Amino acid sequence: MNHLIDINDLSAIEIEALIDSGCEFKKNKSWPKLSSSNCSMLFYENSTRTRVSFELAAKYLKVTLVNIDVATSSVNKGESVLDTMCNLQAMGFDYFIVRHQQEKLPQFLIENMKGDFHLINAGSGKEAHPSQALLDAMTIYQYKKVFSGLKIAILGDIKHSRVANSLIQILTILGVKSLYLISPASWQRTDIANTIVTDDIEYGLSEADVIVCLRIQKERLEKSDVIDFDEYQQNYSLTIDKLQLAQKDAIVMHPGPINRGLEISSQVADCSQSVILEQVNNGVFMRMAILNQLSKS
Ligand code: CP
Repeated sequence: MNHLIDINDLSAIEIEALIDSGCEFKKNKSWPKLSSSNCSMLFYENSTRTRVSFELAAKYLKVTLVNIDVATSSVNKGESVLDTMCNLQAMGFDYFIVRHQQEKLPQFLIENMKGDFHLINAGSGKEAHPSQALLDAMTIYQYKKVFSGLKIAILGDIKHSRVANSLIQILTILGVKSLYLISPASWQRTDIANTIVTDDIEYGLSEADVIVCLRIQKERLEKSDVIDFDEYQQNYSLTIDKLQLAQKDAIVMHPGPINRGLEISSQVADCSQSVILEQVNNGVFMRMAILNQLSKS
């Protein structure tokens, strides 16, 4: 693995190895030192979890990391992402962690940068968020130990969510057969094979082992996609009543940030079945596993 751009670039064996590695970093704190690496982070979109957990992961592995403050950088004088990265590379950076609204930008950067470097896609448009999918898979593995045989329900704004896109890819590769995508009709996707698409939340959540609740991507909604949020909240917000449709030991996940009372009630977000903060914790160890794996190529 030279870069982490898209989950579909990985095999089941590579994903399982990353999950094992993330679990090992979590359990055994005698971590390796990757001190010959210099890593720069460029976030052209806001972030708390992804940015900070990569920062911690790099710190734990003794990687020098510089978080480029895009808002005060020469990006504002018109410098392109490619030129910014080439300049950083000239200073000695060999790892780049990039979040940007433009889809296919990571692929463009790989094709146009020279020399040896590693690129991690920390979120590209509606398309991909591979490190989130990996930490989500690690979390499901932690609680359920298997993937095949699980009923997993993804609930919410499927259409605009890079988290959903990468999660569907990883769960499919890991052998999940019963994958339900629940959303209002206007936020559904019909181009994904081997999933059950429904606007019926009761049917979708019934006896689910895992529920992944999504944030409404308000910043990505086009005019034709805007729906009545009060109606959404009434019909699709994950409440305690709706949670009871799932298995008694179902886990509730959410990539964050959560909008309490809109896509998920506070009662559910804070209940004993919620593993939302465990996902955040696993994010640090999965991102250590990613940096460590890239350092081997
Ligand atoms: N889940 C996620 O990507 O969160 P941030 O936007 O805070 O990084």
